[in-house]
Amino acid sequence: MADKYAVVGNPIAHSRSPRIHALFAAQTGQDMTYEALLAPVDGFSATVRDFIAAGGHGMNVTVPFKEEAFRLATQLSARARAAGAVNTLTFAGTDILGDNTDGAGLVRDITVNLSREIAGRRVLLLGAGGAARGVILPLLAEKPASLIIANRTIEKAVQLAGAFPGSHGCGFEDVAGQAFDLVINATSAGLSGGVLPRLTFVFAPGCLAYDMVYGRQTEFLRQASAAGATTVDGLGMLVEQAAEAFLVWRGMRPDTAPVLAELRRA
Ligand code: ATR
Repeated sequence: MADKYAVVGNPIAHSRSPRIHALFAAQTGQDMTYEALLAPVDGFSATVRDFIAAGGHGMNVTVPFKEEAFRLATQLSARARAAGAVNTLTFAGTDILGDNTDGAGLVRDITVNLSREIAGRRVLLLGAGGAARGVILPLLAEKPASLIIANRTIEKAVQLAGAFPGSHGCGFEDVAGQAFDLVINATSAGLSGGVLPRLTFVFAPGCLAYDMVYGRQTEFLRQASAAGATTVDGLGMLVEQAAEAFLVWRGMRPDTAPVLAELRRA
């Protein structure tokens, strides 16, 4: 019987993960299934338990359950612990292994797919919620010249940076006039349709502006593009975090380029 995997979230109907993993499985010849599971907002752990009972091997976890998955896991990887959230579960006997591949996916998209170095660069991360927290450790591991976390609510940025030596937290106004080589939008402003404040920092020549949201021209990308930055959405991160999960589960890294190209076409 094929090994069973799934992505669980709420909502989940829009998820591209089943398509991505089906393409990975076909490419690598892995005998596996991967479905999308809608869990009730108060029924995440029951959905996981049912999936394990049905012989499930592993699960990806998406909004709004990543923190709950963190609490459900019986063992955590270092990067999951740093993220405070889990997007990849592996079931091993009675153990539930929790991992987080989001930050690795972001870094790989930037450094491999987009051929941009993070090492030695001035990096600005906008936002201090779960999405931001999930990528800080892998970004710092690249050894940027600086990593500044700027957030609308200053205290949250300061508190978050306090947990990651080598980063610095502040408000949006505090970076006015400062230049950055890489700016990553991890706020939910692009998702909620909320209005991002006018950006007053400087996109240095050649700056890459990266929005972790995919499939839409966000206000962040509009402002960055108007300021002359190269802009990119988070579709590559989505595919790369999936590839990293596939590697965790199957012990092999799929070739993401044709998968990303197909999603871009679709
Ligand atoms: P996620 O898990 O997507 O990170 P979250 O934990 O609710 O969601 O965090 C949302 C982030 O987007 C926060 O940094 C939030 O800023 P505040 O901490 O000040 O709330 C940020 N955010 C949301 N809407 C925003 C907007 N319109 N302008 C600027 N920042 C915004």
